[in-house]
Amino acid sequence: MKHWMFYCAAACAAIMTTTAFAETRTVWLDDLNLGMIRQGWGKAEAKTSVQGRPLRLQGKTYARGVGSHAAGVFYVELDGSVKRFQTTVGVDDDSNGPGSIGITLVGDGKVLFKSPVLKTGGTPAVVDVDLSGVTKLTVKMDDGGDDNHFDHVDWCDAKFIVEGADPKLVKRSYPPEEKIILTPKPPQEPRINGTRVYGVRPGAPVLYRIPATGVRPMQFSVRDLPPGLSLDQNTGIISGTIADREKGTHKVILVAENAAGKAERELRMVVGDTLALTPPMGWNDWYAHYDRITDAMMRQAADIMVSTGMADVGYQYVNIDDCWMNFVKHKDPKRMGPRRDEQGNILPNAYFPDMAAMTAYIHAKGLKAGLYTSPGAQTCAGCEGAWDKELQDARQFAAWNFDFLKYDWCSYQKKAANASLEEMKKPYIKMGNILKTLDRDIVLNLCQYGMGDVWNWGAEVGGQCWRTSGDLGMELERYHEVAVRNAEHWQCAKPGAWNDPDYLMIGYEGAASEGAEAKAFPLSPSEQYSYFSLWCLMASPLFYSGDMTKLDEFTLNILCNPEVIDIDQDPLGAQGHPVIRRADETEIWTKPLEDGSVAVGLFNRAEIEQPVKVAWSEIGLKGKQRVRDLWRQKDLGVIDTEYTAPVSRNGVVLVRVWPSDN
Ligand code: GLA
Repeated sequence: MKHWMFYCAAACAAIMTTTAFAETRTVWLDDLNLGMIRQGWGKAEAKTSVQGRPLRLQGKTYARGVGSHAAGVFYVELDGSVKRFQTTVGVDDDSNGPGSIGITLVGDGKVLFKSPVLKTGGTPAVVDVDLSGVTKLTVKMDDGGDDNHFDHVDWCDAKFIVEGADPKLVKRSYPPEEKIILTPKPPQEPRINGTRVYGVRPGAPVLYRIPATGVRPMQFSVRDLPPGLSLDQNTGIISGTIADREKGTHKVILVAENAAGKAERELRMVVGDTLALTPPMGWNDWYAHYDRITDAMMRQAADIMVSTGMADVGYQYVNIDDCWMNFVKHKDPKRMGPRRDEQGNILPNAYFPDMAAMTAYIHAKGLKAGLYTSPGAQTCAGCEGAWDKELQDARQFAAWNFDFLKYDWCSYQKKAANASLEEMKKPYIKMGNILKTLDRDIVLNLCQYGMGDVWNWGAEVGGQCWRTSGDLGMELERYHEVAVRNAEHWQCAKPGAWNDPDYLMIGYEGAASEGAEAKAFPLSPSEQYSYFSLWCLMASPLFYSGDMTKLDEFTLNILCNPEVIDIDQDPLGAQGHPVIRRADETEIWTKPLEDGSVAVGLFNRAEIEQPVKVAWSEIGLKGKQRVRDLWRQKDLGVIDTEYTAPVSRNGVVLVRVWPSDN
């Protein structure tokens, strides 16, 4: 009895305490950090529409709420004790034209609310969802299945009914997701990987390390190598120079042999004027090291490219980005100093004591070296640029034996006479012409963020690849939107001419300040699969830009699947693009391949897992198809008319399909 009384007293006190503290309060969405809302146009506004006018739905004006724009998303972190989210949501009355949107709320991976398509002037959706226990809420605004024109979303009277901590809008969050390694380990026997077609100019030094997986030791041999080239049988490195009279295509047979077996593959060496006949692959240090880059880090990256097996699947370039020169101003005195010598020669900073020795180190591994400059007086980070010294600098880069140049517009803005297309092309025409006069093959990467529709003229001025937009690192969470935009220019891509949506940022990034700890890039495991698949479908240059010293098994599994890389490196050089985009946020991308097969990406951009379907007839294929899942490297057999796969939140299933007679 006594006991019971004790428990009762304790329990009752607890109940009373809970009741005493269980008072709810209202937290308005418009009081939260709206800078975290990602949206299709403009920025989210508190208490007004996205255009700064009163929030108005069907003639009714609301004093509180948020004006946004589809397509967009925001993520809310909750402590599990938030009770409800309530709002009236629709397309603002003043949206200048007919808009249409869809709203989805997902809590901890479950759909809590899904609106029908909401239209300008139409009935808004009244939302009142139970959030008890929910810790991650994702709110999606889609474009209603058409485009995003006039899709001004008004979240009227939007509020959380809260018991505990205030909800927090965050840049990005996702329900816990396991890092599943889909790709089997490479087999013991040799497999020759990487490009199947390689462009070199006669007279320029050739350096090609045959990329091959399989146990070492491995012996290499070649048949029908053009005269002037030789092979190191132990390392598989081909080097030498090809004479002018050998112009044309040489079908070289590469052979790799080890204790477990033997592999052969044809490599077409095209001796002529065109470089980068497939998208260049490698590593660029920018997002790993920023202004902390040193010669030692570059050498270490080359070592790791070989030791991790990245070089065995085709990664080849080891490229320094900005910050190898002296800065005009920098907190580290070792990064300041004379920017040129008395003859006007560009001087690297003290962290790069011997550029030629560094490229020799990289070359000795059969890899190639790249660097960066700007046509302006200064680079983006504030180092010495190439302005007025373009020829001298380019000759210096060639004398140091570099193989790749990223040429970044930056402060050239101040030099351009006006904003005309002619002025935009000018520095690139100049550098393109200079590089053609050098006795080395230097791949030219135009970096001017897509200005003047560079995809229409990048090749004509001598570039092999060109960035189509700003820095992806600034908006990594929008990688899929960036890919969709990049894919709009698919018709401009061809061998030797590639649209560049920027680097691969998975694994770990560095931090901008000296000595700061590396941190993981923000994408979920499924998103990383999607990201890499999109880049390969788009025949993008594949430059990893994470911290090489922090490569883990999961990241390497994404970066190093040779069957996925084959899609990127396909000799046909077609750029894939989305062919179906559905209101349920699924997308089908296709890329035709040289052997008559097609790579098909089934993407799910929704916040929950759902099946994604593709009928062969919808993507222009006739008859039955033999299907192989590329991430899992698994045959799925012959499929009659359509294929459906369950696809995780923001994930992908990537298949390759061949016409089948069976
Ligand atoms: C620009 C480029 C980036 C990087 C930095 C270096 O922002 O777009 O890729 O090269 O400059 O400063």
